[in-house]
Parts: sequence; C-alpha cells; structure tokens
Amino acid sequence: MSIFTGKRIVLGISGGIAAYKAADLARQLGKAGADVHCVLTEGGAHFVTPITFQALTGNPAWTDAWDSRQSRNMAHIELTRGADLLLVAPATADVMAKLAHGMADDLLTTLALARECPLAVCPAMNRQMWENPATQRNLAQLRADGIAVFGPASGEQACGEVGMGRMLEPLEIVAEVAAFFTPKRLAGRKVLLTAGPTFEPLDPVRGITNISSGKMGFALARACADAGAEVTLVAGPVSQPTPRGVNRIDVQTALQMRNAVLANVMHADVFIGVAAVADYRPADAAEHKLKKTGSGGMTIELVQNPDILAEVAALPNPPFCIGFAAESQNLDEYAAAKRAKKRVPLLVGNLVQDGMGGDDNRVVLFDDAGRHELPQAPKDEVAQAIVAHFARMLA
Ligand code: PMT
Repeated sequence: MSIFTGKRIVLGISGGIAAYKAADLARQLGKAGADVHCVLTEGGAHFVTPITFQALTGNPAWTDAWDSRQSRNMAHIELTRGADLLLVAPATADVMAKLAHGMADDLLTTLALARECPLAVCPAMNRQMWENPATQRNLAQLRADGIAVFGPASGEQACGEVGMGRMLEPLEIVAEVAAFFTPKRLAGRKVLLTAGPTFEPLDPVRGITNISSGKMGFALARACADAGAEVTLVAGPVSQPTPRGVNRIDVQTALQMRNAVLANVMHADVFIGVAAVADYRPADAAEHKLKKTGSGGMTIELVQNPDILAEVAALPNPPFCIGFAAESQNLDEYAAAKRAKKRVPLLVGNLVQDGMGGDDNRVVLFDDAGRHELPQAPKDEVAQAIVAHFARMLA
C-alpha cells in the first residue's frame, strides 16, 4: 500500500503559468493512489480548463462557490470535509496574500478558511514578486499559522528572468506530500546508510563491480528522511537523484566507503548497510590501461576488502545495525547465518532475482522474534515497511 492510498487531496490551482504543471501534478497524485479533487480560481481556469482536471482525476473540478452540484450549495465547506490535505499548486503571490490575511472571496480561499484539514502551498511567481517584502511577510505569516510551504525552486522563469520563485516540479511536490503524510517515527534519530555497488579498479578504465542500482538504498534513505531522521547516505557509483534532505557522500571503492562510514558513524543512532560491497579488490590497480599481451589468459590477484557492517557492529558503542543479504538461493538459511556472523539485530534478506537492479523488491526481515515476510512491492513501499519495523524495535 502506498502512503497515498485512501488519501483525499483537494488540489487548488490559482492563476499562474505554472498551472499547466498542476495538470501533471493531479495525474501523478492520482497515480500514487490519492483521490484528487480540483478547485480552480478564476485565474487558474484561464490557464487550464476544469475539464482537463476532471479528465485526469475522474472527479468533477470546481470553480464556483455557488455551484449547485454540491448538496445544500455548500461547496465552500463540503469539498474539504474528510480531506487529508488542501494543496494549493501553484500558489500565486495574490493567493498567498489572501491566505495569510484570511480573505475568502472565491471558492478556493473560502475552502481554505473553512477547512479542518492541513493546508500546504507551492509558491510560483516571478522572482521580484517572491522577493518583495510583502510576499515575504505573507510567507512568514503562513508558516506561523502552521501552513506547509513546498518550494519554490530557483531557475529560469516564464518571464525569461532567472531566480527564486519557480514552482517545484510535479514529482518533487509528490515527494513533499509523501513526506508530509509520513508519520515521524524517526524524529530526532540520525541514520547512516550505504547504498549501491562499489567499483574496485583494475586500471584507469576497468574494474570489478556488480549490478546494484542503488534504488533500494536510496529508497530507504528517502523513507528515513520522510520519517523525520537526519540521514547521511554513503553511495557507491550510481545515477540515483539525492533524496530531499539527505546528506550524500559519493564514493567508488569499498575502502572509500569504509572510511566515509567510519568518519560519520560516531554520530549515528542507526546504521544500515544496503550496499553490495565487493568482498575482494584487485591487489594492484595499474596506473595505465592494461595491454593485451600475447594470446594467453590473465590472472588477477585479489585481496579481501574489510567488512564494513561487521566492523561497525563490533564498535564499543555501536549504533543499531541493520544488514542486508542478497542471495540467489537458500535465503532463510544464508540470511540467518549472516545475521549471526555479523552480529546485527536486524537483517533484511532478498533474492537477487527479486531485488537487484529492478524497481520492486520482496524481502524477509530476520530478527530475534523470527522471520517476517513482506509482500513484493515498489522499493519505496518496501523501504517504508522496513522503517516502520525497525522504528518499533528502537522504541
Ligand atoms: O541496489 P539495488 O539494485 O536496489 O539492489 C538492492 C540490493 C539487492 C543490493 C540490496 O537489497 C541488498 O541486498 N544489499 C546487500 C547485498 C549483499 O549481497 O550483501 P552481502 O551479502 O555481500 O553483505 C551482507 C551485508 O554486509 C550487507 O549489509 C552489506 O552491505 C555488508 N557488507 C558486505 C561486505 C563488505 N565488505 N562490507 C559490508 O558492509
């Protein structure tokens, strides 16, 4: 189940050019599992028609406080009844000013004033409007009133200028909303993770690595950050975007990964080893590209890499350690043996054919209480379930 399943979101669209992105936002929120109901201001409806939002969400879109389709003509109250969030995206400078001052002169602002659910805004405006002291006063007031503010970002604007005021991209807003809905089970905790493969060089262009994509480790970093933790992620060579709010340290080799972990572990309450660390590295990395010599084979001498997880677990005051085990067979037997050998309270086992490289995973959690199998799901959902499990163990 996604964090959005069963969530009713009222999406308010006010009149800015970023309204065109709100159509994709409505679609992405629906795709994530939310039930989305759109309300457009008069300005918003100038940019994108209500029909577009109706088609994308499968729900009627609303523009008028006097719309007779709502029972008892109470659209200004009924639409947010039972809603989990009123999300205004884009939120223009004008709408932010109205919300900050409690004005209610159209359906959206009336809904905001009459709501019982939380309110979040995604500002979108020209950089001078954003920097204007009046907008900054309104922003401070919205924050003081407990209203969540997602963005804005800096970048090229529709007016051709460059600066602060661009609305976040739809998927960034979806990530913000997901974090908003996530219970803060790890508030006050510091989590250190490793993710991805390592790359052990043979020469300047070749090396030993594996097919870990980093997706599972990055999903866990994201889930920990969404749950309120301060997160440091030591990442091998992968092309995953850094999750919001996560401090990322990029490394190549197992030795670099170990050094980065040991430099940060003294602050950590939890250490999670998701990386597929190479157990061996070439004894010598050639300074120049190796040349083919004759027609015979080649022997590469390998030496063992340190076991980062086992080293962390053996520290005098270790953080709560979570290991992963990727096996191609006998998952229960091998994973339980790894948990005992590395002396970690929780070990997450997965089959390489289920979890390595792809978007989904199916894992089994091994701890003192026994085995706990999670259903196959997207890695973000698996990560949220793992966080819920170890947060209970920490508590
Ligand atoms: O990155 P993805 O494509 O999303 O794939 C995710 C994954 C399959 C890589 C991940 O879910 C996973 O299982 N990671 C562990 C991979 C593995 O095989 O680990 P291992 O059995 O070699 O090691 C066991 C544990 O010790 C792991 O926590 C590992 O990080 C750690 N370890 C291993 C060797 C070493 N030298 N140092 C370590 O810290």
